[in-house]
Amino acid sequence: MKALVLAGGTGSRLRPITHTSAKQLVPVANKPVLFYGLEAIASAGIEEVALVVGDTAPEIRAAVGDGSRFGLRATYVPQERPLGLAHAVLVARDFLGDDDFVMYLGDNFVVGGIDEFVASHRDARTEKRTGTGTGARTDAQIMLTRVKNPSAFGVAELGPDGRVRRLDEKPAHPRSDLALVGVYLFGPAVHEAVAAIRPSYRGELEITDAIQWLIDHGHDVRSQEITGYWKDTGNVEDLLEVNRTILESVTAAVKGEVDEASEVVGAVRIAPGARVRCSRVVGPAVIGAGTEISDSYVGPFTSVAEDCLVDHSELEYSVVLAGARIEGTRRVQASLIGRAARVAPAAGVSRTHRLVLGDHSVVELTP
Ligand code: TTP
Repeated sequence: MKALVLAGGTGSRLRPITHTSAKQLVPVANKPVLFYGLEAIASAGIEEVALVVGDTAPEIRAAVGDGSRFGLRATYVPQERPLGLAHAVLVARDFLGDDDFVMYLGDNFVVGGIDEFVASHRDARTEKRTGTGTGARTDAQIMLTRVKNPSAFGVAELGPDGRVRRLDEKPAHPRSDLALVGVYLFGPAVHEAVAAIRPSYRGELEITDAIQWLIDHGHDVRSQEITGYWKDTGNVEDLLEVNRTILESVTAAVKGEVDEASEVVGAVRIAPGARVRCSRVVGPAVIGAGTEISDSYVGPFTSVAEDCLVDHSELEYSVVLAGARIEGTRRVQASLIGRAARVAPAAGVSRTHRLVLGDHSVVELTP
């Protein structure tokens, strides 16, 4: 079994962060979201992985390298344009050969990993080969989870036997509340499917169309419902939620300096080389190496990356990327602050906002 990790794409919903970096490398609890996926793949016993990469290929390569730090052998498959999830399978044909593979969307996060999902597929393939069990052919297996707003997802309709009968991409009138999670398992039949389908109205080769093609051509597509948490970190709101979820399992470890005048409460991880002065940090929270927190309050569900400054400010339920500075600012909440960004009061003129914002930035000010 191999793995195909999709780490290209446009990332338009995470602009302006994605103007300068790959969305799969945005840190949650100070670790790139992609790394959690690679760890889940390694934990499921898979060793060979290809990462599908686009414009941000150099950055992804620099971060993942040969994959050995994850216990994986990593190779890279360039995708000249983000033409869809099924297109990523098409361009990875040589790497995949006729092996079974797990396809993992590089910006997705699945609590509890994929061990069970991969093991169940292996069992089903063995049944097929040995003629034991149901003897059913399993050419694809999808992970499903119940959601409140199915119209925002790929939605599955199951038949009475539990097999997948139909898939719809972001349907206006969903037939169920079962959304597709960004992890799929395929056998070699998928290659015929991705070659046969045509681009959708949005100009992409959709993986849901490829799976529907398999169903329509008599292939067996099974599903497994997961009860655990799953989220795509493709937009700010969801990214903050994933950050919150991961921080919930952080254990306290104060390796940096905390002065006498400071108070650190609950599960707070402070990296070596970080300094906390005259401040209150309430966990769960993580503070990266080289970061300084002074005369400030850092509240729950906050991740501050390396080499940041938080001074005379209040920060809560936020993700702050490396090198950012937050100074003299009242409560900053539910925010994603990019690398080396600076948030500070306007000098001189009272009641004035002075903004230097990158393209597609979002600023919400209290009146
Ligand atoms: P999406 O989040 O669906 O697509 P996107 O990156 O284009 O995002 P947006 O809608 O914000 O513009 O993609 C899911 C994952 O698959 C993500 O990690 C990017 C990756 N991907 C590819 O590698 N190639 C592709 O052609 C597409 C569409 C996505």
